Amino acid sequence: MDGGWRRKRVLVTGGAGFLGSALCHALGQAGAEVVALDAMLPGTGARQANLDGSGARLVRADLREADLAPLVEGIDVLFNMAAQTSHAGSQTDPFTDLAINGHAQLRLIAALRAGAPEARVVHASTRQFYGRPQLLPVPESHPIAPPDANGVSKFAGEQYWLLEHRVHGRPVASLRLTNCYGPRMRVMDARQTFLGIWVRRILEGQPFEVWGGEQLRDFAYVDDAVAAFMTAAAALEGTEGVAGQAFNLGGAPPTSLKDLAEAMIAAAGEGRYELRGFPADRAAIDIGSYHADDRAFRALTGWVPRVGLAEGLRRTVDWFRPNLPAYLSDES
Ligand SMILES: NC(=O)c1ccc[n+]([C@@H]2O[C@H](COP(=O)([O-])OP(=O)(O)OC[C@H]3O[C@@H](n4cnc5c(N)ncnc54)[C@H](O)[C@@H]3O)[C@@H](O)[C@H]2O)c1
Repeated sequence: MDGGWRRKRVLVTGGAGFLGSALCHALGQAGAEVVALDAMLPGTGARQANLDGSGARLVRADLREADLAPLVEGIDVLFNMAAQTSHAGSQTDPFTDLAINGHAQLRLIAALRAGAPEARVVHASTRQFYGRPQLLPVPESHPIAPPDANGVSKFAGEQYWLLEHRVHGRPVASLRLTNCYGPRMRVMDARQTFLGIWVRRILEGQPFEVWGGEQLRDFAYVDDAVAAFMTAAAALEGTEGVAGQAFNLGGAPPTSLKDLAEAMIAAAGEGRYELRGFPADRAAIDIGSYHADDRAFRALTGWVPRVGLAEGLRRTVDWFRPNLPAYLSDES
């Protein structure tokens, strides 16, 4: 059973990154012909080794300047995972952030119009632009109030893709992800997720820092996020109501960061942490508690997260035990 992916031509932008590479593995296993496009930018989750064994062909190219025509020609599905994802980084360099998350999206849209007018698109969006939640769980109808430049650019990028559905009828769905974690995430620092640096510190026998501690999050294990992307792409072939929509995507039931820290230590069988206040630059863009109301996506597609927090954390720590040394520096 290949789920209809056998011989499908699939392009994954950001395909060497954390979520993109996990998608490439799953698509390869399902029999798809996968090209991973990635600029291999330092400071991101990009890593060539992330694709080892996936069967995907890596094309090193930057969406901001590459000739995209030959890469999109005749594809059936685009998973659009490439982005500038750093929140703090978007505040110090909003121009690069906008160039990747806004302008480069328009280049990709134009290339697809010419070379793959029928291709389905699942776009990786974020919960970030809701800002500090006014209610929990957060529905898709929540006001948009980006707390940082990254939230502005990611919202713009999503809206360009949804516009493509409204004006040109392209089958597009956007998934507004919560915090994701799992094997192959960036762990050398907290640039991708604070969970990354927690894993590193535990495996190095050092205490990790928990900022605040009372905030709630609904962490999604990478396999569940990947399943949601593949489910969304399949649903774009038929299911009424998926095309043209942005859906929240949550994960495990909400947990406080303090409880998460305890769960992480239990999963690893070792570790300790220190509670700290937020550094001033982070406090200014922190969104407090978040968990998603993702009932719309679940109801339309039947998707549910399958990996609980304890199990996901255990799998993550176990995966990084032998792999940590290879993940402690950016690839040049
Ligand atoms: N990981 C999460 O918790 C999370 C949460 C919300 C949203 N998202 C979204 O999911 C997507 C994937 O995130 P991720 O966590 O895998 O990040 P990641 O950093 O691991 O992957 C992003 C990849 O995009 C590539 N890239 C960036 N700019 C590029 C360009 N101009 N041309 C080509 N490649 C480029 C990077 O080199 C990197 O490999 C992003 O769109 C992100 O906004 C992720």
